[in-house]
Amino acid sequence: MADIDIDALAREARADLEAATTVADLDAAKIRHLGKNGPIVLLLRDIKDLPPEQRGPVGKGGNVARKELEALAASRHEALASAELDRRLIEDAIDVSLPPRAMPQGTLHLLTQTRRLLEDIFLGMGYDVIDAPEVENEWYGFTALNTPVGHPARNPTDTFYIAGHDQGAGANDDALILRTQTSTAQLRAMQLTKPPLYVVHPGRVYRRDDIDATHSDMFHQMEALAIDEGLTLANLKGTIESFLHRLFGDDLQVRLRTHFFPFTEPSVEADVQCFSCGGTGDPSADDRASGDFDRCRVCRGEGWIEIMGAGMVDPNVLGAVDGYDADTVSGFAFGIGIDRVAMLRHGFPDLRMLFQNDLRFVRQFAGRP
Ligand code: DAH
Repeated sequence: MADIDIDALAREARADLEAATTVADLDAAKIRHLGKNGPIVLLLRDIKDLPPEQRGPVGKGGNVARKELEALAASRHEALASAELDRRLIEDAIDVSLPPRAMPQGTLHLLTQTRRLLEDIFLGMGYDVIDAPEVENEWYGFTALNTPVGHPARNPTDTFYIAGHDQGAGANDDALILRTQTSTAQLRAMQLTKPPLYVVHPGRVYRRDDIDATHSDMFHQMEALAIDEGLTLANLKGTIESFLHRLFGDDLQVRLRTHFFPFTEPSVEADVQCFSCGGTGDPSADDRASGDFDRCRVCRGEGWIEIMGAGMVDPNVLGAVDGYDADTVSGFAFGIGIDRVAMLRHGFPDLRMLFQNDLRFVRQFAGRP
């Protein structure tokens, strides 16, 4: 047998394995060189046919070469397979992204913003914000608020009765109504907490009113109630002043006029100096330019804006709840229209705009109470 050059065979096989650029090429080269008909494999298989003195060196050299070639093939396989996988991942990728579509973003309704503004002012003064039912019985709605039988508010032409209205002249404390004022929360608060008590309650109220620019059968009020030892009308005035200054402006005067409410004695109405004309009643430049107003548009030339009902809690109201004794505690209360505050502050002319959900109106108040 001619000289056997294992090195030459191994070199050729190495070159072939290294030249392969795909896994398929590499597999073909592996079969050629390391398969059962590969030259080195055949040499090793037929080693017994060699002259005895060649068997040792050829067996050893062949085995070393075969091991090296197998290692080379394995590492080439790994490199080529992973390159192919990378390429396939890129080529096969499907673009599932869509053109961006902005989500429509909502904002708080002007009424919600206004309610929160009022709540914030009272939270800052140490009051708690409480909740109370909109469906009440006559006791909470009228009787406990010192409202006598026969009072016009107890008439189903004024108040929505849900059930149990006494058809005669009498009263039925269990009859169910939609409350007409947030003052009902006064009793609820007193029943839940012993004095001292400092709470506000914003919420919906319902009245059998014909709907027009300034009336609605549903609107919003916020009630404030303070009960403690030694509270006087001076405390009421100071509280109302602080509140209205925060709401409309620091330098505005506040005045109280005597009035009547069944559940307060004495009762007052509070006016705040007009924040638009500063109390003069004169039209603003805008009012004048519009051509429609020869007096201040906001206060209609009065110089004052009527803003809330208030008073010292009537002893009969205190007496309606256990744990409250008119001899040891006194209190003040007031109620303000939230819708009206929003209208005044923003100068829109019709209450109904708040409830019509016309986005052209609603969006104007995004982020500004
Ligand atoms: N509840 C009254 C109304 O709806 C407003 C009011 C007046 C509330 C006097 C009070 C108050 O707490 O003391 O017209």
